[in-house]
Amino acid sequence: MPEPFTSVPAKSVAYSRTTLTELMIPAYANFGGKIHGGTLLSLMDKVAYACAAKHAGEYCVTVSVDGVNFRQPVEVGELVSLMASVNYVGRTSLVIGIKVVAENVKTGIVKHTNTSYITMVAKNDAGVPTEVPPLLLETADDARRFLEAIKRKELRAAYSEHFDNERTRMMLTENLAQLTNERCVLGTGIL
Ligand SMILES: CC(C)(COP(=O)(O)OP(=O)(O)OC[C@H]1O[C@@H](n2cnc3c(N)ncnc32)[C@H](O)[C@@H]1OP(=O)(O)O)[C@@H](O)C(=O)NCCC(=O)NCCS
Repeated sequence: MPEPFTSVPAKSVAYSRTTLTELMIPAYANFGGKIHGGTLLSLMDKVAYACAAKHAGEYCVTVSVDGVNFRQPVEVGELVSLMASVNYVGRTSLVIGIKVVAENVKTGIVKHTNTSYITMVAKNDAGVPTEVPPLLLETADDARRFLEAIKRKELRAAYSEHFDNERTRMMLTENLAQLTNERCVLGTGIL
């Protein structure tokens, strides 16, 4: 059971804003010579944790990751910076927005690889979700990100509900014909 609500002072977005910069070494590369997506995901989780834990003043766990679309590959030798800030807080949860950029140190060219959102939940020493401080919104950007996070949360809930309904209604026999133009082959064990 979550703890009862108590009032704690708000903390600003600036208080927990965190940047992690890491050099992309050859050990991070895949067989194609580009950086593994998983390496970036791990760094995103790390910076989200640092940011969330600083705001919460508690140990935090990762609950979900939204909107990870790698727009451009990251190369060995580039400097990757992950900028994290608290976009939204609920009672025990925090949404951390993370912007990832990769810089070629020789040319100075900086590319935006992705912006993603990680939801973390603060836990107390007993492992129970625990209240986090409210977020002090000091700038128009702070307020816009908070509002966007609410909208994203609403849309995600609506999507989940819609998909669950569709899945319940979906009958294998009636929908198999839909696969005719897909790049799959139906084996004999399906029906
Ligand atoms: C996330 C977790 C704490 C939720 O537990 P729960 O018993 O459902 O707790 P609650 O219902 O009180 O939810 C706690 C908060 O998580 C949020 N939450 C739960 N599931 C969520 C999801 N899928 N996406 C976003 N937020 C979620 C709730 O909205 C709530 O936020 P709020 O307090 O700000 O309103 C629990 O499922 C858990 O511990 N998961 C494992 C997390 C972990 O170990 N991660 C590391 C991966 S190895």
